[in-house]
Amino acid sequence: LAPLREIAAAKGIAFGMAVNVHRLEDTAKYRDILARECSIVTPENTMKWEGIHTQPDDYNFGPSDEIVDFALKNRIRVHGHTFVWHRALPPWVQRVATDKASARKVLIDHITTVVKRYKGRVDSWDVVNEAFQPQDNLTHNYRNSFWYQMLGQEYFEIAFGAAHDADPKAVLAYNDYGMEYENHSDEARRGDVLDLMRSLKKSGVPVGAVGLQSHLRAGTNEHFGNGVTDLLHELHHMGLECWVTELDVDDTKVAASDLHSRDVQVAEAYSNYLDTVLSTGCVNTVIAWGVFDAVREIGAEAGVGASKGKSIRPLLFDSEGNAKLATRAVAEAF
Ligand code: XIL
Repeated sequence: LAPLREIAAAKGIAFGMAVNVHRLEDTAKYRDILARECSIVTPENTMKWEGIHTQPDDYNFGPSDEIVDFALKNRIRVHGHTFVWHRALPPWVQRVATDKASARKVLIDHITTVVKRYKGRVDSWDVVNEAFQPQDNLTHNYRNSFWYQMLGQEYFEIAFGAAHDADPKAVLAYNDYGMEYENHSDEARRGDVLDLMRSLKKSGVPVGAVGLQSHLRAGTNEHFGNGVTDLLHELHHMGLECWVTELDVDDTKVAASDLHSRDVQVAEAYSNYLDTVLSTGCVNTVIAWGVFDAVREIGAEAGVGASKGKSIRPLLFDSEGNAKLATRAVAEAF
């Protein structure tokens, strides 16, 4: 099989993976796969607030630098992840940002510092991540996060504006999950995201892309359809790039216990989804949310991983770094 980045590039698509800095440091095979398969990578955790900005005056750039240096040495682009998020916020932020003015300042300083440090090396950023309530059935149901409580809807303009000022060339994204399937909750989320993008565009906020996280589920009868393709066409029509940012497949609902049947169903989820979204011609970036599978301990009992409290998210290479059915499924989808 040719490298996925080459197969994707022939269709004008960037292909890549999220990088875990610990695996990058300790596993040669992991580095080999990244170097061979990817034209873009994103740091899985190191650029999140608690990873990169541990105390008010203490930035921890080392782990992110390692990923960026590795990527650029291998001629791989870097996508940065993420600024405004309700998770991964260290406690000091709420201690320091106690009113609207101080929250605004903390947010702008953080974004400006990180974007400037990687200016010219990181080409794009997830500026806002997961801004809507889970199980959204209403429209404009913004998540009541710390940033929303402090700044209201204004945080979008503040965050995108700061990132744009710090690096006018970077492509700035809104990233979210739950837009992929044909169900009411995903339909509501698609509506929310479209409305948000329309309003940001209308007020001149420098948003350039939308990321569909694409955490998929195998072993359910859920399916993909016009909901997601219509969304992609609409976003594209508005001049926004459309990215698949966190592609993986949760196989804990697959009934079969033998590994081969499980692999078949996981590969099908990858194919069905990529065939659907790539058919629009609007997606120019596909990033898998990791490199290797976790070691699987599927016993006689199906879905045993879930019952052990372990979420199993099969990726495109097995726990030893070998290609599997899913690898071929993705290659064929491009
Ligand atoms: C996850 C990472 O994969 C985990 O290692 C970490 O413990 C928690 O975050 N949506 C996102 C990602 O935008 O940042 C999350 O990544 C998965 C859900």
